[in-house]
Amino acid sequence: MKTYHLHGTHNLKWWQTAVFYQIYPRSFQDSNGDGIGDLQGIINRLDYLVDLGINAIWISPIFPSPMADFGYDVADYCDIHPMFGDLATFDRLLDEAHARNLKIILDFVPNHSSNQHPWFLESRTSRDNPKRDWYIWRDAKPDGSPPNNWISMFGGPAWTWDAPTGQYYLHSFLPEQPDLNWRNPDVVNAMHNALRFWLQRGVDGFRVDAILCLIKHESFQDNPPVTPGSYWERWGHQFEPRYTVEQPEMFEHVRLMRRVFDEFEERVHIGETGTVDVAGLIPYYGRPLDGYDIPFNFKLLHANWHAATVRQIVEAYYDILPAGGWPNFVFGNHDIHRFATRYGYQNHRSVAMLLLTLWGIPTLYYGDELGLEDVFIPLAQRVDPWGIKMPEGDFGRDPERTPMQWDSSPNAGFTSGQPWLPVANDYAQRNVASQLADAHSTLNFYKTLIQLRRSRPALHNGAFTFVDGLGDDLLAYRREADGQRLLVCLNFGDQTRTIDLSHLTSRAATLLSTHFTQQSGTTFMLQPHESILLQLG
Ligand code: GLC
Ligand code: CA
Repeated sequence: MKTYHLHGTHNLKWWQTAVFYQIYPRSFQDSNGDGIGDLQGIINRLDYLVDLGINAIWISPIFPSPMADFGYDVADYCDIHPMFGDLATFDRLLDEAHARNLKIILDFVPNHSSNQHPWFLESRTSRDNPKRDWYIWRDAKPDGSPPNNWISMFGGPAWTWDAPTGQYYLHSFLPEQPDLNWRNPDVVNAMHNALRFWLQRGVDGFRVDAILCLIKHESFQDNPPVTPGSYWERWGHQFEPRYTVEQPEMFEHVRLMRRVFDEFEERVHIGETGTVDVAGLIPYYGRPLDGYDIPFNFKLLHANWHAATVRQIVEAYYDILPAGGWPNFVFGNHDIHRFATRYGYQNHRSVAMLLLTLWGIPTLYYGDELGLEDVFIPLAQRVDPWGIKMPEGDFGRDPERTPMQWDSSPNAGFTSGQPWLPVANDYAQRNVASQLADAHSTLNFYKTLIQLRRSRPALHNGAFTFVDGLGDDLLAYRREADGQRLLVCLNFGDQTRTIDLSHLTSRAATLLSTHFTQQSGTTFMLQPHESILLQLG
């Protein structure tokens, strides 16, 4: 039995014990009836977030943007889109959040700007424009075709022809998202200054978008075809992005950006990674620890909901963490279907139990605390540019981006206008107001769980030990600190299981169950898909 003793548990940084909560700003709360969420809407709901118990809010991009990729196409890195508010409203959000002890994390999109960014507009005016080299331009092959076989993460060629200057430009995502040239020191400077602009205003950190694409191999050679069964093939790619992702110089830029964060006190540096396995996360921590504080770990999010699989991933991760490196887990975000749908609704509370009791920083996605499921969006109403390109059977990312469900009033209290994406049909029953009134709701389950995590050192920074041999389909672990001993047991299966804990304790008692059962003693019964958190005597 291996115990993971946590490193340096006495001088924890604020983010090591924090619960993060992602807001997709278009969908959280509209305050002016245009059907799109905004900053004032977030301000209006801060007390809800305090009551939920989270510590830090990460807000997806709120900068000026033509919204080709809903804000991940930035047209000005140092301002607020009028649709979301203005700088004064943003400063108020910061003040109001800080007054409530909530941190604000913004989203930094360094790999590409919008094609409407003044830098790109200049860059495309002529081959000798001083901003030409801020983006990645190449000549066509003699037959007029793109310079190489690189493809966009959203499918189709990564090159778009620009007739006026007779060259192709590179875009790892949409043609509306031209890649910046991070080999140009002026770009690096300008982008670092954009970070400073917000950090100086008091922003508590950034989640950095799509970092893996930041630098491309200098040779611009073709990518090789994918190996059958490989990670990239499973992602639907025809070519392995050998020369387009995770180049060594990219890690160097993670370190350089980190230095900008270090010019300020107590800021958190979070990265969106895209690694093949947990081992791939390690270089993002830096050597030693001069990279990301939180390199997002998506490995459980892409796993099957099986006890053995989850165990194997968690253990592999803990086993290779660099000294002082802190783990983290993510189960949902604006790019992936809701876990209540992916893992089956019967498991959604167990996912929360796991996420909030593992050793590692949890990031929640808005609405998961209500057990929200994917919302089916008919093709005619799809708006996600990636989703629109997808075959009939797939749905893109709209299903996990629908409006937050606040109450049973029209449009779930999200907007008095026409919501930009349809509200789920079930909102009259499934909403914040109705769940607050129901002691056994998913929302109250989350509130209790977050409260337990915050108040018990064993849960946020206690030693971690897997407990073996309790039975099939079960995953169990102990968390211990300051003489306090807790045990978590998840039943992944659809059979009732009884566990005997007499070798571990003389008497245990339930602190929280996904099914709100209450038991005590040394044997415990778990219903199908039930998970329990116990205090060991
Ligand atoms: C990231 C974002 C995603 C966006 C893409 C391009 O993966 O999470 O929403 O479409 O980068 O910026
Ligand atoms: Ca609005």
